[in-house]
Amino acid sequence: MNAAAAGAAATPVKLWLCANEDLPPALAGVLAAHWLDGQERQTAGGFLFDRDRRQYVVAHTLVRRALAMEAGLVEPELVIWRSPRGRPFLQYPAGGLPRGGRQLDFNLSHAGGYNLLGVVRRRRIGVDIERLGRDAQALATITATFAPAEQAWVAAAGPGEGRERRALRLWTLKEAYAKARGLGLGLPFDAFSFTLAERRGVEAFTPPEDDLDGRWSFAELEPVPGVLVALAVQAGPGPPPSLQLHHGFPWARSAPAAMTLPAPAPVPEPGPSPFPTALAS
Ligand SMILES: CC(C)(COP(=O)(O)OP(=O)(O)OC[C@H]1O[C@@H](n2cnc3c(N)ncnc32)[C@H](O)[C@@H]1OP(=O)(O)O)[C@@H](O)C(=O)NCCC(=O)NCCS
Repeated sequence: MNAAAAGAAATPVKLWLCANEDLPPALAGVLAAHWLDGQERQTAGGFLFDRDRRQYVVAHTLVRRALAMEAGLVEPELVIWRSPRGRPFLQYPAGGLPRGGRQLDFNLSHAGGYNLLGVVRRRRIGVDIERLGRDAQALATITATFAPAEQAWVAAAGPGEGRERRALRLWTLKEAYAKARGLGLGLPFDAFSFTLAERRGVEAFTPPEDDLDGRWSFAELEPVPGVLVALAVQAGPGPPPSLQLHHGFPWARSAPAAMTLPAPAPVPEPGPSPFPTALAS
């Protein structure tokens, strides 16, 4: 392995999990006033409900704080732009980032009082966070978007928490992948599929047709009981990177829980498609 490949392999994937309660509202307001750009402040000011404004402000101060530490810039200096499909990216200053490198990717998810940020260098990342507690109708709606084999796997669990877990595990993984690609819900969720282990972990991944490489590492976590997290990280050279999970607002580099990201999920050999209708359309 050459030096560049070894460096890429050593890059950790960092996850920041921050509950809204981790940042008191008055402090969040002060940070937002100093750190958020005009567009972010306008979005924050446009929410009808305080609860939604709070979630947005905590999420976006979290993004700016964690990226500032990673990039070596101060929070208001970060220029964040969005793709036509809405995916945020960090704009690199001329000459690269003060802490080194030109490629820093991040992705944000927020739901039910929790904010999750994933940060990685030299590859793409997508994250999703969801809380258990959907009603049967909501679960049926999301499950209907899945590939037939996935729908059958969800239905086989029988009604109740077991079925909800299966549905939300698939949903978070699909969102994480679609967000890493920058496509979001613009990518039909039945055009790619997962085979999941009974409790946790991806056993196989069938990518959509336009993902010719299709090599991704996926991880599932439940950092708080009832809060499901999934991440998708593009595979790079060398062994899978380490994964660091930080809890709370990143005032300092807290000692993270460390684990190893799983190897890229096996892609099944081409053969008869398990979802003929989805891929034919
Ligand atoms: C990305 C998407 C799936 C997120 O849905 P969600 O489950 O409600 O939200 P999450 O909390 O998991 O993620 C939201 C965050 O994802 C990020 N995001 C937005 N669009 C994204 C995209 N296309 N790809 C990756 N990340 C995206 C943003 O940071 C967003 O938070 P913010 O708006 O506060 O900055 C959904 O917004 C989507 O499908 N967007 C694409 C829409 C599109 O294709 N538009 C085209 C217009 S022509």
